[in-house]
Amino acid sequence: MTRIISPSLLSADFGNLHAACQMINASEAEWLHIDVMDGVFVPNISFGFPIIEAAKKHCTKPLDVHLMIIHPEKYITRFREAGADILTFHYETVENPLEVIDLIKSEGVRVGITINPNMPVSVLEPYVDKVDLVLLMTVYAGYGGQTFIEESYNRIAELKEMIKFRNAHCVIEVDGGVGLQNASKLFDCGVNVLVAGSAVFNTTNPIRTIHDLLKS
Ligand code: DX5
Ligand code: ZN
Repeated sequence: MTRIISPSLLSADFGNLHAACQMINASEAEWLHIDVMDGVFVPNISFGFPIIEAAKKHCTKPLDVHLMIIHPEKYITRFREAGADILTFHYETVENPLEVIDLIKSEGVRVGITINPNMPVSVLEPYVDKVDLVLLMTVYAGYGGQTFIEESYNRIAELKEMIKFRNAHCVIEVDGGVGLQNASKLFDCGVNVLVAGSAVFNTTNPIRTIHDLLKS
């Protein structure tokens, strides 16, 4: 089973992005997670194209870009040009998810779909066999450093069943409140990709923490 750690740049020291990228390059992290927030869909604003371009310049790993913005369809080409390798949009932010999935695919970028914890997992059913990745938010999108919502385990199980039933091949990613305290349980439940922001960047030895998360 695929097991990937995707550290979230949101918790890095923005004064030293180069060092953060070098740490990622030297680590067992397979992806770098990049959180784009617009202050409209979520009550927070993070960063946009220039930071993604900078990360692309210094980071050798695929950029796993999580769009927390309204009208993501308007900016797909720009995100691809900036260096996104995976583009995940929120189901809540679009009128026609299938169109957005096709648009992202047409740019030659891997596509993910995600939902906040208050959205029924069942809304994802028509899309699981059309995307590369389903991201289940395990906190409400908007901030790093929040507490993992325990109900998420039931949602992961439901998603796994759905993927099996539809004979789909997408990977399952979770994001929010993930750390050494729950990584092994999440992998055991069938999660493939763990996003971890504060759990990685707020430790004295992030490379070691990434290793420990992976081997949990
Ligand atoms: C939250 C973001 C997360 C965030 C996770 O809206 O999508 O990627 O960086 O941060 P931690 O791992 O600290 O909960
Ligand atoms: Zn994220």
